[in-house]
Amino acid sequence: MISAVEWTGTSVRLINQTVLPARLEYEEISTIEGIFDAIKNMHVRGAPAIGITAAYGLYLGIKDFPDNSKENFFKTLEAQARYLEGARPTAVNLHWALQTILDGVKQEANHLTIPQLKERVLAIAQAIHDDDRRRCQAIGEHGAALLPLQSRILTHCNTGALATGGIGTALGIIYVGFQQGKVQHVYVDETRPVLQGARLTAWELQQANIPYQLITDNMAGWVMQQGLVDAIIVGADRITRDGFVANKIGTYSLAVLARHHNIPFYVAAPFSTIDTQIRGGESIPIEERDCNEVRKILNQFPIAPENAPCYNPAFDVTPPHFIKAIITEAGVIEPPFEANIQKFYQKQTIHFTV
Ligand code: MRU
Repeated sequence: MISAVEWTGTSVRLINQTVLPARLEYEEISTIEGIFDAIKNMHVRGAPAIGITAAYGLYLGIKDFPDNSKENFFKTLEAQARYLEGARPTAVNLHWALQTILDGVKQEANHLTIPQLKERVLAIAQAIHDDDRRRCQAIGEHGAALLPLQSRILTHCNTGALATGGIGTALGIIYVGFQQGKVQHVYVDETRPVLQGARLTAWELQQANIPYQLITDNMAGWVMQQGLVDAIIVGADRITRDGFVANKIGTYSLAVLARHHNIPFYVAAPFSTIDTQIRGGESIPIEERDCNEVRKILNQFPIAPENAPCYNPAFDVTPPHFIKAIITEAGVIEPPFEANIQKFYQKQTIHFTV
């Protein structure tokens, strides 16, 4: 399985996802500013992968801090974390990963030296990375167990190895389900405007020899109406404590269509995507991106008049009543989500061995 993010020992090695599938290009980044730009410009994307990359970025931002005042060390660490968090506002994994590091090193403030605290930052970043690999595998197994034999699945955006530290979330379920003979076919939404479905999910499925067909986003309703879809599985960028799901723009439309056609609509995500601080969809910050993503294909080929006014929200929010279950590493959470997310929270499998 391909790795979207790797730590080389001195830098972060990323697949530049903006040029896939035309080219498989790696880039090595050794500054926090480089990490910020890579996240903002979507060289790396997908909620868990963004969190992992930012975690290494925080180490890059602090590794040369002079060995003098611990107070200044912590002030700088906090400021660097807030800077990285600003790269993309919707995926809460970014905040979660950075906060996990801040909390982890603060606990050690009294008995570690500054060089040791820096090593601790890196060790927690690596633990977050390893941990995501295990979470993805567990999500894959819990989700595959739900699927009937010969399932035809529709998915949106990219939620696979390119988006995480492991096999993926929604796509992880498809990988495990396929290995178990349960997934027969996958419909891949192209996912306008950035085309993560067409460019990345189709590419991943092709590598794995899983039968799929690419469809444009506006074909999804018709494909459902024709009886070709047994389940829809998507990922998430932020899930509120009461089960509102922010995910790639177009997810909400799929959920409404799924309800109309009586097709189960599943969301797959690790607990690092659940924002236990907030309730209700309106409290989720929705990233708006450059209009050229809508006016041009891949920021290159114009498909609208230059300067056409546009609106480009990168995510939408699906209310809980459209969701059959949220598939996590701790198991399958059914409604009522607020009570059940809390119950499963206790059972989540964090394996930090720092
Ligand atoms: O804008 P992107 O490509 O970062 O958006 C990605 C998604 O919306 C994914 O569905 C989500 O991050 C889940 S990744 C396992």
